[in-house]
Order: sequence, then C-alpha cells, then structure tokens
Amino acid sequence: MIIAIDGPAASGKSVTAKDVAKKLKYIHINTGSMYRAVTLYFLEKKVNLDNGTIFKKELKKLKINFNFKNEIFINDIDVSNKLRQDSVNNNVSKVSAVKVVRDNLVALQRNIALDNNVVMEGRDIGTTVFPNADFKFYLTADIEVRAKRRLIENQKSENDIQSMIDQIKKRDNLDKKRKHSPLVVADGAIIIDTTNMKIADQVEKIVNIIKRKDKYTNE
Ligand code: CDP
Repeated sequence: MIIAIDGPAASGKSVTAKDVAKKLKYIHINTGSMYRAVTLYFLEKKVNLDNGTIFKKELKKLKINFNFKNEIFINDIDVSNKLRQDSVNNNVSKVSAVKVVRDNLVALQRNIALDNNVVMEGRDIGTTVFPNADFKFYLTADIEVRAKRRLIENQKSENDIQSMIDQIKKRDNLDKKRKHSPLVVADGAIIIDTTNMKIADQVEKIVNIIKRKDKYTNE
C-alpha cells in the first residue's frame, strides 16, 4: 500500500505523514530530507550549484542511507540535524530542480516501496514517484499560517515572519515552476487545506478516508 502526501513548504506534510504512518503501522518516508541531504553534501564539498552538469560526477561519490526513523546518513555520517539550516533551505530548490538528482532519488524512493507499506511525502510523490499510489493527498495552507508554524518549529521570533514568508514563497515558486516534476496537485489527489485544522484532525481525516475506502474495496 502506498500513500502519497504532497504539498508546498511547511504545509504540515511531515508531522501528518509521520502520525498517519504510525496509526496505520506503515513506514514514513520524508523525501524532502533526501533532497536536503544532497544539497548539504554539495554545499560542504563546495560544488558550484549553478552548474548542474557536474552534479552527475559528484553524485557518484555520494552514498545516501536512511533508516525508518528518517535519520539520514551521507557516506555513513549522520547528517539528520544539519538538514534544516539556512544554507540548505536557500539552495535545496535549486539542487532538486536538476534531473540527475531527481532520477537518483526517485529510484531510491521507489525501491523502498517494493517490500514496504509506505506513507511517502514530498512534492512529486503522487505525480512522478508513484502515479498509481493507492491514496494521494495534497496538503496546503495559507502562507502566513505556514510561515508562523515554521517559526515556531525553528524556535524563531515572530518578528521574523516577513523573511520567513519570503523564504517559503521563493522555494514554492521554484518548486512549482521547475521543468522536471514540478509541484502540482496530482490527478486524483484529495486536497486538504490545513489552515484552520489541528494536526490531530488532519491525521484523523486522512486515516478515515483510507480506512473507509479500504473497507469498501475489501467487501
Ligand atoms: O519541510 P518542507 O516542506 O519545508 O520541505 P521539504 O519537504 O523538506 O523539501 C525541501 C525541498 O526539497 C523542497 O522545497 C523541494 O525543492 C525539494 N523536494 C523535491 O523537489 N521533491 C520532493 N519529493 C521533496 C522535496
């Protein structure tokens, strides 16, 4: 069983996907962390991020592993707590727009679902990674609400709201306008606007949809 959850930055995908997976006893896969890990590696190696043609060679030197707690390892070093730093936030959309990066990571993502029930979240799960997913959800929320949530998550002051809005908008635009696997609502996806919802409610809504449909198909 494959549950795809896509949506723009800070729309609540990660926490929702994690809790839905827990309730269903499925594995939660956060694909954003993989794009962030590649970006971190390139930044640390001082790879010229404006020259996507050298990425292929650089990717050959990179081994990404992760476990089902969503800890990510680059060449066997745990980088999980470095993935949300500003340098990564500001460059991840540029790196993830490059086809060879996507091809590598999509292969990894498809592989995981071969022998596992998964809740996978990202930008292109319902469109590219698993266009035939059993269930597809698209989470969204007003930009101010998303920025506020991200400030709280990062323990930043409310005074930083405008710069957070700008950062999120910039990333969303790049993700929506890129040529390869842009962020769009997948065919058949159920749109959930979480602006006025609590996490527990959006989790319950998704789990109920899955259980209801499952019941019908099993009858
Ligand atoms: O947590 P947040 O929504 O802010 O972002 P994320 O899910 O960690 O994703 C970080 C970035 O990775 C996105 O802005 C996209 O540029 C890229 N990404 C992607 O291109 N495809 C995915 N399936 C997941 C993430």
